[in-house]
Amino acid sequence: MKGKHIVLFLTVVGLSMLFFGASINAEECADEGVIEMKNTEAFDQHKMGIVMFNHKKHYGAEPDGYAITCGECHHDDSGQPLELKEGDSVQGCLECHSEPGNARKPAEMSREEWDVAKLDYYKEALHANCIDCHKEAGAGPVKCMECHPKPEK
Ligand code: HEC
Ligand code: HEC
Ligand code: HEC
Ligand code: HEC
Repeated sequence: MKGKHIVLFLTVVGLSMLFFGASINAEECADEGVIEMKNTEAFDQHKMGIVMFNHKKHYGAEPDGYAITCGECHHDDSGQPLELKEGDSVQGCLECHSEPGNARKPAEMSREEWDVAKLDYYKEALHANCIDCHKEAGAGPVKCMECHPKPEK
């Protein structure tokens, strides 16, 4: 039941974004500050298990949280960090990293060019944000199954 509500909710949010370019805000956030990362606009179908992203824990104060500033993840239309406080609204990542689905490097493109170009894809922007920080911090999951649990059967 709950899953269905969230899907419905995401659809409604998705549609309102299409029509109004609306931002998303804290009231729309899931319980306990955990975001179910299931973007149905970017992916017709999720092949991997759904990532449960503990948003609040990432920005929350130490020792319970990781004390990461909002601007590490939320930036403006030139990629500059935004200065935000809890309760402020933000744009969804897909509004700018707007290519859906899985990226594939065009044969003629160099590795370096591709590393930049692939950020147009929602999936690549998310992976870069999450995984690069975990790698650099030497903390947090970097393996597929640590973020994507086994899909429900
Ligand atoms: C570690 C990365 C990260 C940090 C730090 C972070 N966010 Fe987010 N936030 C995200 C991601 C990813 C989403 C999901 C965006 C999407 O679905 O397009 C999100 C969603 C949101 C949303 C909409 C959903 C919800 O939870 O209500 C708001 C509002 C938001 N963030 C505000 C903030 C503010 C304010 C801060 C700082 C106090 C912050 N975020 C810190 C990554 C982060
Ligand atoms: C208002 C438009 C906009 C939104 C919304 C947005 N981005 Fe970006 N992002 C950009 C731009 C512009 C750049 C820098 C240019 C580029 O695409 O290479 C960038 C760069 C990035 C980069 C590479 C640079 C870096 O900081 O390491 C990552 C990763 C990234 N964004 C992830 C995200 C995530 C995750 C979200 C949602 C929480 C998000 N972006 C929301 C516009 C946006
Ligand atoms: C700027 C750095 C940074 C970014 C960006 C970031 N994380 Fe993390 N993440 C951390 C740190 C630090 C930890 C704590 C690891 C520890 O203490 O064991 C962590 C832990 C986690 C954990 C395990 C513990 C928990 O809180 O559930 C998960 C899962 C996780 N991150 C998912 C994500 C996802 C998904 C994203 C992208 C939407 C993301 N992270 C973005 C720094 C980051
Ligand atoms: C740090 C957490 C993290 C790790 C590690 C990670 N992913 Fe993801 N992945 C995400 C997030 C967040 C999304 C965006 C899902 C959404 O918003 O719908 C995503 C999306 C995807 C998608 C598109 C949606 C789907 O289910 O089809 C695929 C495919 C994917 N990841 C594969 C992988 C593979 C393969 C690995 C290991 C090489 C991996 N991921 C490692 C966080 C992670």
